Amino acid sequence: MQHIEVDYVIIGSGAAGLSCALKASESGTVALLTKETMPSGNTPLAQGGIATVLGEKDTYEMHIQDTLYAGAGECDLNAVEVLVKDGAKRVKQLFQMGFPFDKSIDGKPLMGREGAHSVPRVISSRGDGSGKALAETLWSEAKSRENILFYEQTFVLELLVSNNECTGLFALDMEKGGALIFYCRSVVLATGGCGQIFAHTTNNINCTGDGFALAYRAGAKLENMEFIQFHPTALKVDENPMFLISEAVRGKGAVLVNGNGERFMERYHAWAELAPRDIVARGIFAELSNGNQVSLDVSPLGKKFAKLFPSIFQACKKRGLSLPEDLVPVVPAAHFIMGGIRTDLNGRTSIKGLYACGEVASTGVHGANRLASNSLLEGLVFGHRVGGAVACEQFRSNKMHSAVLRAKSFNRKAIDTGDNKFIFALRELMWCKVGLVRSEEGLTDAVEQLKEMERNLLGGQNITAANMLTVACLIARNALARRETLGSHYRSDFSDGKSSDSLRPASNI
Ligand code: SIN
Repeated sequence: MQHIEVDYVIIGSGAAGLSCALKASESGTVALLTKETMPSGNTPLAQGGIATVLGEKDTYEMHIQDTLYAGAGECDLNAVEVLVKDGAKRVKQLFQMGFPFDKSIDGKPLMGREGAHSVPRVISSRGDGSGKALAETLWSEAKSRENILFYEQTFVLELLVSNNECTGLFALDMEKGGALIFYCRSVVLATGGCGQIFAHTTNNINCTGDGFALAYRAGAKLENMEFIQFHPTALKVDENPMFLISEAVRGKGAVLVNGNGERFMERYHAWAELAPRDIVARGIFAELSNGNQVSLDVSPLGKKFAKLFPSIFQACKKRGLSLPEDLVPVVPAAHFIMGGIRTDLNGRTSIKGLYACGEVASTGVHGANRLASNSLLEGLVFGHRVGGAVACEQFRSNKMHSAVLRAKSFNRKAIDTGDNKFIFALRELMWCKVGLVRSEEGLTDAVEQLKEMERNLLGGQNITAANMLTVACLIARNALARRETLGSHYRSDFSDGKSSDSLRPASNI
């Protein structure tokens, strides 16, 4: 068993983890951990880009209002102000690091449009390669810092918490097989989301919700776990993860059509294809439920489609679709969780020395439905803030935690999911009963079935399955308890509730 002492341990190497590591490395030594290889998580999969106020016709106030509107009135205003105002600074810093942003003919950043944004506000890179370019930029900067140590293939089994203070963690080196114990001044969870607990998702195969489960087991407070965003347009192919067709494609003029070739989104919202994501996803769901196929018609973009969206063009070609001529069959898929580990605006959780940032955290910035392309921005902004905030923590006396003694009983087999029937059943259950459209009956059934799964899992421990089950239970129980429709949380038995379309006149766009 190896003992490692550093100032800060950051779990996760997406936009939030890397940003946090960069800032934290200014005041101490950092161990950056991922169960994958770096850079990891959903960041490299992100297509659309980063929402930020740069355009002449844009203002902070407009970005704030759009975020509040998309969030169905549930956002924390202070968090949104921080996101928008700090966001502009972080994007400037990103440009200084050499982020290869797409340019308009005057050399300025090209601003794209996405759903519920009142002006074009999304910067991109290589068309639809924004997340990959962001990850590469941050990763290459992180590699240049001497006091950031990288631990790949390292799976965190337990946080070391006693008396509500976190003093480190205990992990498995999946490559060499040994246990690692980290002692530090603070631990930062930047572990991303949990899309993999649903049968259909755009999330990376490793987004199994480990961070939520670790925090929950340690006794941290979590909130709003029922707010799951379903992206309207995943490519309808039986794959995991599902390939995303970016909202930016609709922003450039692609339209949604049903099996009769009719544009239908105008029936659901005056902004049609560019309505907030929850509304577009439900519009598609309604068409599908009526037996219609739904497709994206990209022909309005003509031959320039391939240049604007090279990755999507290639991915569709690989799957037998020729764009812009062919219709692209699409379905909604689990994409993002708005709730998570409750934090303040500097990422402090309810446990001393434990911080969270990015998708795993709940600052209130997204309310009940996230605005498009605010997630990479969130990672940059709150990762940086947490990286600064951790400097105030001191080493605390670290008592050997009982978990450490259990270290030897785990090996890689306890983590790999492979062809796990339990996980398959869990994902199907979550999709069918805790998905885009929920009801008292379905949720009650899901909660009961999850309880049964908890009983079955006891003993035969696969850690990933256990983490997924913990997160699934939190989501299903919260969804049952929230007896209203609100943003992304749609209850068919409370369908006249508040959703984002009731909050703002529909004529702004
Ligand atoms: C997209 O490109 O449609 C996804 C971007 C996001 O999740 O905000």
